[in-house]
Amino acid sequence: MRVPDHGALAPWRILAIAGDARLRLGEFVRQRGLEINPAQSEAAQTKDRERFTRAPLVLGVIASPVDRPGVPAIEQILSAGAVCFNLLQGAQALGFGAQWLTGWPCYDPAIKSHLGVREHEHVVGFIHIGTPTQNAPERPRPDPAAHFSIWQG
Ligand SMILES: Cc1cc2nc3c(=O)[nH]c(=O)nc-3n(C[C@H](O)[C@H](O)[C@H](O)COP(=O)(O)O)c2cc1C
Repeated sequence: MRVPDHGALAPWRILAIAGDARLRLGEFVRQRGLEINPAQSEAAQTKDRERFTRAPLVLGVIASPVDRPGVPAIEQILSAGAVCFNLLQGAQALGFGAQWLTGWPCYDPAIKSHLGVREHEHVVGFIHIGTPTQNAPERPRPDPAAHFSIWQG
């Protein structure tokens, strides 16, 4: 929670989802997916049911912006994003594997409500944490030069 935080508002909170709660949440997500799309495939249903079971601990990071003159919501949401990144770094520094995932359930009003996330709040990430069983595959990284320029005025 030691993150940049304009106004020291601590505009975020964390929900720990572990043990049987992971499958209970997945089952709720599966049923909700089926309600939205009655033709949902078996594969998609299985993915939804199991989406929180790939690691023993899932931390749901909730951005909870408040009305504060001079500190727009985007700054508060960015601060919550920094919490996510800190969790990744902290978990990895302790020897765990960690991954930041979202997916459609983060944006679904019924699932948000089931999690106790209020309308003005955002699920900015689920941080999945566990013991790695293999090395994470590497991927091409952005070319810094393509994302950097010196402003000349
Ligand atoms: C806000 C956010 C949400 C993400 N959600 C997903 C996701 O739902 N599924 C996914 O495969 N990767 C997602 N990612 C990307 C992964 O966190 C990660 O970057 C990717 O698996 C590649 O790993 P690497 O960045 O260590 O190479 C998300 C990243 C961010 C920042």
